[in-house]
Amino acid sequence: MSLAVPLDPFYGLLLLVSCATISLNLSNWSKGVAMSLMDDARAVRERAYVPYSNFKVGAALRASSGTVHVGCNVENVAYPEGTCAEAGAIAALVAAGDLEIQEVAVIADSPTPVSPCGGCRQKLAEFGKADTKVVLGTMDGLLIETTIGELLPGVFSTEHMARS
Ligand code: THU
Repeated sequence: MSLAVPLDPFYGLLLLVSCATISLNLSNWSKGVAMSLMDDARAVRERAYVPYSNFKVGAALRASSGTVHVGCNVENVAYPEGTCAEAGAIAALVAAGDLEIQEVAVIADSPTPVSPCGGCRQKLAEFGKADTKVVLGTMDGLLIETTIGELLPGVFSTEHMARS
């Protein structure tokens, strides 16, 4: 897991370079704009429906097909019925016919990069690999780079059901 603090000029430059190179979105290239996966997460975050928590989250997943799928949190007056941004993005991924996550970006306006909840970690593990890259961000530019495996050590998997 690594933390990049853009206030330091060196890491700021590193961050800038990685933002520009990590996740070039072909559809946005065709519009003449190079966007990172985190930009996609940041954009969809604006659409979050959060009348109860007022905490907007955006998630973007790059599938192995190259397509980017996005999701935001959608709350409900019956609180447990709300869904996380990551779950929304995963639903979009599957609905579009993709089943493999290559990279994840999640963003919120939090003091430190937003940490996916336990349920979302298991959901990400269903469609990603242990070494699948996950970038967690804040609105003011703090980034943590980690992996699905680091987020969920001891993941429950089909191996545990081998006797069933
Ligand atoms: N939330 C997400 O969308 N993703 C996370 O990883 C953490 C939490 C949402 C759920 C709820 O709408 C709000 O943030 C506050 O918990």
